[in-house]
Amino acid sequence: MVIRWHRHRPAADHGAVRILVTGHRGNVGGPVAAHLESLGHDVTGFDRVDGDDLLDSAAVRSAADGCAAIVHLGAIAHDDGGSPEQIMAVNVLGTWHVLLAAEAAAAGRVICFSSAQVFGTAEGEGLPDYFPLDDGHPRRAKRPYGLSKRLGEDMCQGFTARTGIATMSLRPVAVWDPGMYQRIEEKWRDDPQSEWHPFWEFGAFVDVRDVATAVRQALTVPLSGHHRVLLCAADIAASEPSADMAARLTPAVPVGDPAPFRHDPWRALVDCSAASRLLGWRPVHKWSTRGLLPAPVMRQSGRDIPAVLEAASSCRSM
Ligand SMILES: NC(=O)c1ccc[n+]([C@@H]2O[C@H](COP(=O)([O-])OP(=O)(O)OC[C@H]3O[C@@H](n4cnc5c(N)ncnc54)[C@H](O)[C@@H]3O)[C@@H](O)[C@H]2O)c1
Repeated sequence: MVIRWHRHRPAADHGAVRILVTGHRGNVGGPVAAHLESLGHDVTGFDRVDGDDLLDSAAVRSAADGCAAIVHLGAIAHDDGGSPEQIMAVNVLGTWHVLLAAEAAAAGRVICFSSAQVFGTAEGEGLPDYFPLDDGHPRRAKRPYGLSKRLGEDMCQGFTARTGIATMSLRPVAVWDPGMYQRIEEKWRDDPQSEWHPFWEFGAFVDVRDVATAVRQALTVPLSGHHRVLLCAADIAASEPSADMAARLTPAVPVGDPAPFRHDPWRALVDCSAASRLLGWRPVHKWSTRGLLPAPVMRQSGRDIPAVLEAASSCRSM
């Protein structure tokens, strides 16, 4: 597999691919940056915690210089994280600065963190038209955070159409760290209603380790154009099977084809087939195993990493 990440320049010494990761001090950016470093990449971080500001276009451009790709996570990551003005400024203008920096650096691709909140179905904002929610569902976010992510996706699409630089908008549902499984179980034990009160989020979550592998895949698969993919675990975090939960808590939302839920009762109510098709991504961490890797996957992981490094080295030789 040959991937042209960058058009005219090797990324760094001894062939390592240089990648700008914005928001690398954050909950998701930290593990993503660490994962890319563990694969041998040369990661340049950019985060306000270190005094870097996405609103400073020249600083973003300077940080991106020489980078083969950008992974953009830096953001105000929730409606409670800032004023509407700040959210729109950082998430929209900041993303625009990242895209301009990618163009100036002649980067091969930009992996941009969007969110499942683009659909306007999180935290009580609205219900989906159907289950499983998929990437073709209308985007109806109206609050600043979800709206900023919608605008970010649209900017990526227009940017790719103009420059030809591939962009991938990743749409994670709630991202969990490995300790979250236990914290959720304890919370539900103390207050069983907290599973669905004040909002039921369809039991959807994705483990941050699976998010990191999605980024790895997004950086290594052949890619052109602009794409948007949901990221969600394969099963739901819930005390009842998916169809039962949906029937009880969201009776107005039809479940498209009930057959898969008869075969796999805890199947996720979010469809990640676009991520599977485009990235070959399969989340391995599940609620049913409380985030632990099933034994066969653990055994395979040692063989998996050299294959990834091989893919990366084919990028380096461009
Ligand atoms: N955590 C989730 O459940 C989740 C779900 C869907 C999408 N996302 C998206 O994933 C990305 C990472 O989320 P997270 O949970 O790690 O958030 P986070 O708040 O932990 O990290 C965001 C990082 O961005 C940095 N940042 C904020 N403003 C900045 C600025 N002006 N300049 C430079 N850096 C700035 C922060 O300092 C922080 O380290 C975000 O884009 C978020 O919208 C997160």
